[in-house]
Amino acid sequence: MRLQRVARFLILCLIVMSSGIAWQANAEYADVVLNQKSEKEGVRPVIFPHWFHRIRFKCKVCHAELGFKMRVGSNHISMENITAGEFCGACHNGDVAWSADECDLCHSGKPGLKTGIRGGHETMGPGIW
Ligand code: HEC
Ligand code: HEC
Ligand code: HEC
Repeated sequence: MRLQRVARFLILCLIVMSSGIAWQANAEYADVVLNQKSEKEGVRPVIFPHWFHRIRFKCKVCHAELGFKMRVGSNHISMENITAGEFCGACHNGDVAWSADECDLCHSGKPGLKTGIRGGHETMGPGIW
């Protein structure tokens, strides 16, 4: 029947739309841009995929043991402390994860991005932790 076909089409549209929205939120959610010094010193901004890390490690690994404060831009991360094994360098040392020689894997942001969160709580809603 015609009406049934229309209904089926509408339901399909809804499914496609909502999965599209969910996909977008995941791709964007809580990527942290770090660009306090990078561009000033001639490299591209850093993209820290927070979500990628959060599903692999407990919060306290970074926010207690490694001393990352839970506020974007509040940690004084530099290449000096990374190569000394602090912050990102606690893992990106060629042992837990690829090493700090892989500049482009971290300095992958588009020029001009400011320090802050892309995506964020408003796209994903509360309770995701
Ligand atoms: C691999 C390390 C790592 C893990 C694991 C991690 N975080 Fe983070 N988190 C960071 C870094 C780095 C920042 C950005 C800090 C900066 O800009 O100086 C951050 C920022 C934040 C912020 C401030 C930005 C925001 O989104 O509002 C919150 C809140 C936060 N983390 C919560 C969590 C929670 C909750 C977990 C566990 C589910 C977690 N983090 C796991 C490294 C981590
Ligand atoms: C594991 C991630 C990571 C890798 C790999 C990495 N960096 Fe960085 N780098 C950062 C972070 C985080 C900052 C601080 C970002 C900001 O706020 O500008 C930074 C900052 C910098 C700065 C600004 C000055 C300073 O020392 O803080 C320069 C220049 C830089 N990186 C160059 C490099 C070069 C060259 C390489 C490769 C040999 C490299 N980075 C590899 C994460 C990384
Ligand atoms: C607690 C350990 C830990 C810390 C701290 C950490 N990382 Fe990672 N990171 C990992 C691991 C493990 C991977 C996955 C490595 C692999 O796939 O071989 C990873 C992967 C990544 C990736 C690639 C993500 C992808 O999509 O493949 C980026 C970019 C990255 N880290 C940046 C950073 C930056 C920038 C910091 C500091 C702000 C940081 N990481 C701190 C453990 C860590």
